Amino acid sequence: MNTNPNYNYVRIFDTTLRDGEQSPGASLTSSEKMEIARALARLGVDVIEAGFPAASPDDAAAVQQIAQEVGNSPVSEGEGSRKVPIICGLARANKKDVDAAWNSIRYASRPRIHTFIATSPIHMRYKLRMEPKEVVERISDVVAYAHSLCEDVEFSPEDAGRSEPEFLYKVLSEAIKAGATTLNIPDTVGYTTPEEFGNLIRGILTNVPGIENTIVSVHCHNDLGLATANTLAGLQAGARQAEVAVNGIGERAGNTSLEEVVMALHTRRSMFALTTGIDTTQIARVSRMVSTYTGIPVQPNKAIVGANAFAHEAGIHQDGMLKHQETYEIMRPETVGVSQSKLVLGKHSGRHALRVHLEELGFHLTPPELDRAFEQYKQLADKKKMITEADLQALLGDQTNKGEEFYSLQGMQVTCGTMGMPTATVRLCCPDGELATHAAIGTGPVHATYCAIDAIVGVPNTLLEFNIHAVTEGIDALGEVTVRLQANDSPLSERESPQNGRTFARTFGGYGADTDIIVAAAKAYLAALNKLLAATTISNVKGEIRS
Ligand code: KIV
Ligand code: ZN
Repeated sequence: MNTNPNYNYVRIFDTTLRDGEQSPGASLTSSEKMEIARALARLGVDVIEAGFPAASPDDAAAVQQIAQEVGNSPVSEGEGSRKVPIICGLARANKKDVDAAWNSIRYASRPRIHTFIATSPIHMRYKLRMEPKEVVERISDVVAYAHSLCEDVEFSPEDAGRSEPEFLYKVLSEAIKAGATTLNIPDTVGYTTPEEFGNLIRGILTNVPGIENTIVSVHCHNDLGLATANTLAGLQAGARQAEVAVNGIGERAGNTSLEEVVMALHTRRSMFALTTGIDTTQIARVSRMVSTYTGIPVQPNKAIVGANAFAHEAGIHQDGMLKHQETYEIMRPETVGVSQSKLVLGKHSGRHALRVHLEELGFHLTPPELDRAFEQYKQLADKKKMITEADLQALLGDQTNKGEEFYSLQGMQVTCGTMGMPTATVRLCCPDGELATHAAIGTGPVHATYCAIDAIVGVPNTLLEFNIHAVTEGIDALGEVTVRLQANDSPLSERESPQNGRTFARTFGGYGADTDIIVAAAKAYLAALNKLLAATTISNVKGEIRS
């Protein structure tokens, strides 16, 4: 029996800012990354994988900023104890990437280098074009090099789920000899089943010399919808770190979702007998922040954080709930931070009360941002009787962390209906401070608005996704819109995947909230265009039409 008091503690390694940001459309500005990192620290994650510094100077700078600030700010764990999360940077197995990672994370009080190389026959043969022997040598060299810079080194044999177990044992033991302290086992393409994955972890724990002095980690993708089940099977087999992303975002079908693993361990604790350091009451807030900033909506029936996760619509369920909550509820909504008493501020609340509430929600505003938020809040309070936590999050989501704002909405007017052509007149403030106004017709009010904006901004793009929904119940609810778009011909907006090395067209998400849904749609579109402009640095692009 293992008598180590930490034996049953599962480290939560959050990769929302690295693997999560590899999701289509999840491009985040550096201030959004910073806000998410702060929120993850408050949530209590043990490790924040802040990015892939070798990708670009911007990525490196964002990781460095997180290391400097979040990596040196202890957060309260309750009962007087405080912890600082480990800040981790990803590196392919070469010295250049390792140097880039180290140069960004070295500022953290607890830095970690995470290096990886593929070990499955198919990846070694077709992607790496390397012999297994060369892969083993590379692992020894690069892990030893990383260890010479940083005490804490994590190694991942990419595509472990399809690697030959005997070969995995060999590479993992070489990584341990070279100084790896965490061995992460990725099911990169989400291929395995829970039984197979659990057996793989058991085999590793039994057959790799030196493994008992390291932490074994699991990193599962959701291609067959099995990521959470596989992660839990890995933990039951003895892994003690779970790599997860908020809302399960990530490449293709995504990564294991943080909230599912944490709440499974929490709700079924008598079965798993495993603990985490997560403050579960922060889950709903962080989920919402990630969805707002990435522009990736959470599906309503998503476990734990979906809008319907705690809604009990059917009459028979409601009857049961009224008689005894546990008839249909295995978790309390408050446990994950879904508040039942939603009113947070009244019409007469002041600036100080707003600031305190926003800080609780994870928004740290500069004085000018607070002024702007207060003005927005007062406008909303005039239109809406009850301002809820969800309203504040929605309002702030489109007020702050926009990064560079090239174009902003100054005003708009729309006519639509069955009696004429839908027409929108839009006035924007341009990068040089001038106002530009344009009117356009379209097939509907949103189309007309987007045509008018396009005429001013002048960046050819394709709208890939448009989602709209009400933030709260009631006729006076705020509407929120998320969009995702792609530049038509801009090689500068391409980015490279750290795993397959292929460049893919970057897509940009935008978010807007307003009691007027067409205004929310305009704000979301402008937010996405501003991100696109920031990434392609076409800062001098300006429309031709002025009035
Ligand atoms: O899925 C994967 O294999 C990864 C590695 C870089 C750990 O994300
Ligand atoms: Zn991954």
